[in-house]
Amino acid sequence: MSASASQQLASSAVEDKPALNAMAFVSDTASLARVSADLFNPTLGKANVREGTIDAALAISEWPRELDLLIVDLSDSHDPVADASALKTAVPGGCVVIGVGRINDVALYRDLLGVGFNDYLAMPFAEGAMGRAVERAIEARQRGGAGAVPVGNSQRDAKPRTLSVIGTRGGVGTTTAAVTVAAMLGARLKEEILLIDFDLHYGSLMLALDLEAIDALREALDQPDRIDSLFIQQVAQKKTEHLYAMGAEEAPTGRFQARPHAASDFLRSVHRRFRWIVADVPRGDPVIQRQVLEASTDILLITDLSLPGVRDAMRLQQMVHEVAPGARLLIATSGALDARRSAVKVADVERTLKRKVDCQIPSDVTAALAAINFGKPLSDAAPNSAIVKALRPLVASLDTPGGGGAAPKKVSSLLDRLSQGLKKK
Ligand SMILES: Nc1ncnc2c1ncn2[C@@H]1O[C@H](COP(=O)(O)OP(=O)(O)OP(=O)(O)O)[C@@H](O)[C@H]1O
Ligand SMILES: [Mg+2]
Repeated sequence: MSASASQQLASSAVEDKPALNAMAFVSDTASLARVSADLFNPTLGKANVREGTIDAALAISEWPRELDLLIVDLSDSHDPVADASALKTAVPGGCVVIGVGRINDVALYRDLLGVGFNDYLAMPFAEGAMGRAVERAIEARQRGGAGAVPVGNSQRDAKPRTLSVIGTRGGVGTTTAAVTVAAMLGARLKEEILLIDFDLHYGSLMLALDLEAIDALREALDQPDRIDSLFIQQVAQKKTEHLYAMGAEEAPTGRFQARPHAASDFLRSVHRRFRWIVADVPRGDPVIQRQVLEASTDILLITDLSLPGVRDAMRLQQMVHEVAPGARLLIATSGALDARRSAVKVADVERTLKRKVDCQIPSDVTAALAAINFGKPLSDAAPNSAIVKALRPLVASLDTPGGGGAAPKKVSSLLDRLSQGLKKK
C-alpha cells in the first residue's frame, strides 16, 4: 500500500469513527496476512481473523449481533453462490460481507452481489486492496444500504455527457488533463463525475490518483449487459466528494479485443449512475478508441507543439468528424513540453487545423509533480497553478452549449502541405 493510502486508512480509524467489529475466515496464508494487516486499523487491532474457509463460517450457529464485517474465503466451495446465500441469511442483517476466492469472473461477482454480498476480491490481491474494499462497503452501508445508489443530485434529469480526452502523442499530458478537468468539473457542478481509463493494459490514471486498478473492468466491457447499478457502485472508486474513477491493469501479454459497440453499451450502463463521464482514451487501441469517440458528446484533443503532434492532431480531427460528427470538439495545446522550445507555434496549429485552439495548457512542472506526489488531481494538489487557471474557461464552457472553432485562415508551410496531403487520402 502506498504511504498516503495507508495513512488514510489509519486516520479513518483514529478519527471519530468507532472500531469495526470484524471476523475473517481466509485459508491462503499470504491473503490472511494482508487481511489481518488491513483490518488492524479499522478494528483497532481487535479483528477476529482465522485460518479457514466458508465451511468454517457456515458451521457457526450463533453470530455476534454487533458484527459489522465478515470476510470469507470461498475458494474451496463447490457452489460458492449457494454457500454465500446460506451464510448471508445466517449473519446479522447489517453485517457487511466480503468474499475472497481464486475465481476472477464478473459473473460470479455479480451473483455474489445478487445474494447480498457487498464485494468480492480475487486472490492474490494487492496490499491495501482489502482495506479499501472495506472502506467502500462500510461507506455504502452508511449511505443507506447496499442497494441504494445515489443518482446524480440536481442534475438527475439532465442529458448524459461523455467527454473523451485524447492525446495526439504519448506523454503530452492527456491523463493529467483528463483528471484535472474531471476534478474541476465536479467541483464546479457539485456533481459526482466518473473518470474511466480505457487503456486497460497501460493506463496510468488509477496510479495517478493512488487508487486500485479493477480486475472486473475488462469483463464489464465484454459483457456490458451484466452491469447494474450495484456493480458500478462497487467498482467506481471514490477519490473525492465529486470524483470517482475506474481503471484496469491487464497483463501486457493479455489480448483484449472489444466486441462491436462494447464501449458505447458500457458507457450507457454507467451513465445510469453518473451523468458526466470523463474518458481517458488510449491511442494504441484503434478499436476501443473509435468506440469511445463514437459514444462521446464532447471530445478534448490535446496536441503538443511538434510536427508529428500537429500532423496527428489533423488526422484525429478528421477521424472525430467522421465517427462523432455530433460531438463538440475542443482543442488544447499541451504543457507537458515547454512551448518556448517547440518548433511549432500555437498559431501554426490553428492555421493547420483551421480553427482556434480552445485552451493553451501551460507547462508547470512543480504542479505536475505535486499532483503525482500527493496522488491527487492537480487542481487539488496545486490549486493556484497556471494549468488550473488555463483550464477554467474550458471547464466552464463544457456545461454550457455553443462554442466552436474560428474561421479558416490563409495557409502555407510544411504543415499546410501535410494538411493538403491528408485531405487527398
Ligand atoms: N502541463 C504540464 N506541465 C508540466 N508537466 C506536465 C504537464 N502535464 C503533464 N505533465 C507531466 O508529463 C508527464 C506525462 O503526463 P501524462 O501521464 O498526463 O501524459 P499522457 O499523455 O497521459 O501520457 P501517456 O501517453 O503515457 O498516457 C507526467 O510526468 C506529468 O506529470
Ligand atoms: Mg495517459
